[in-house]
Amino acid sequence: MKTALFELADQVLFQNYGKRDLALVRGEGVYLYDDQGKRYLDFTAGIAVCNLGHAHPGVTDVIERQARQLLHVSNLFLIEGQVALAEKLTQLAQRGGEAYRAMFVNTGTEANEGALKLARRYQYVNGHAEKTRVVALPNSFHGRTMGSLSVTSNPKYREGMTPLVPGFEVAETYEQAVEMLDDRTAACIVEVVQGEAGVRPVDEDLLRRLAARAKELGALLIVDEVQTGVGRTGRFFGYEHFGLSPDIITMAKGLGNGIPVGAILAKQKVADAFTPGLHGSTFGGNPFAMAVANYVVEVVRDPGFLERVRQVGEALRTVLEAHFERVTGLGLMWGFDVEDAASWRKRAAERGLLVTVCGPKRIRLVPPLILEEAHVQEFEAIVTQMSRA
Ligand SMILES: Cc1ncc(COP(=O)(O)O)c(C=O)c1O
Repeated sequence: MKTALFELADQVLFQNYGKRDLALVRGEGVYLYDDQGKRYLDFTAGIAVCNLGHAHPGVTDVIERQARQLLHVSNLFLIEGQVALAEKLTQLAQRGGEAYRAMFVNTGTEANEGALKLARRYQYVNGHAEKTRVVALPNSFHGRTMGSLSVTSNPKYREGMTPLVPGFEVAETYEQAVEMLDDRTAACIVEVVQGEAGVRPVDEDLLRRLAARAKELGALLIVDEVQTGVGRTGRFFGYEHFGLSPDIITMAKGLGNGIPVGAILAKQKVADAFTPGLHGSTFGGNPFAMAVANYVVEVVRDPGFLERVRQVGEALRTVLEAHFERVTGLGLMWGFDVEDAASWRKRAAERGLLVTVCGPKRIRLVPPLILEEAHVQEFEAIVTQMSRA
């Protein structure tokens, strides 16, 4: 490890990420390599981003080709890749129901900001200027800019940032979220599997009741698919497991396999509340990001690919249940309890396994979706070694 690099980092970088103990320099498939050439089995995928793994030849080809052709032109011009990606994503969202439209952004928090603005604006143009409240679930995480932070529950992230957005409220219990919806509510926002909170699927009955109550009151249902989308749960969208029909869907992370790209999908009547000038992004949907995202979606939407995610996910679940307590998740996103998550993560890294921590006693696994059963066996061998040490 280059000590000087870590020391310089302490001087010149904001210290907002806590101490890092590894610098990774290369990746291939589900493996990452540090500057000493040590190999790691990557169960982080850049926090649920590199769904097709590292240095995927198809992704690399698209990047090379598009970099030679055109990177950026701005939204002053029609971008062919946006039309192609919007067509794919809206078809996946629609599945025989209402038609959707798409717009493109760069990150998850930005997608949520757009969704929150869109919900208020939709109510306003439909004669309900009084519907401005937004209700979020307990244990929610929607991002760190002001709007999405205001619907994120963790008090640590909110401390010293007040006043947050007026009218954006986080329920204290799941049941209370349903009760909080009223005739002044513009929208409720949910993750169907709460990733940052420890990979916890939300109770299906609760989600359905929340959606039904929102509909009854004319409030919109926003489903944040930033972490659960693009095949992570073994379905293209996580909400498909829960029988929901979101008014607005937000996406990012896995959409670009590491190239920043996000999306807001909305039912057409909702999307139409954004008339020219009301929302936009300089970089959002540029030809480069669109080329990569079109490739990624083409691969992931294949039913055979999603079936393999479910199969390998089940194999991983079986291993986890044999070794750990409170195993929860779906597809290839799993959480489980350990005594001390920070030290568990460190010991795993020493043995060549990378995981993320999402709570003092909670480990989260979000490996690339190209994971195979042989990698699950490799994971189990490391975990077995750790429990014997
Ligand atoms: C569910 C969810 N929403 C939003 C975000 C924020 O995304 P980004 O970090 O791209 O802004 C995250 C990131 O972890 C997330 O998990």
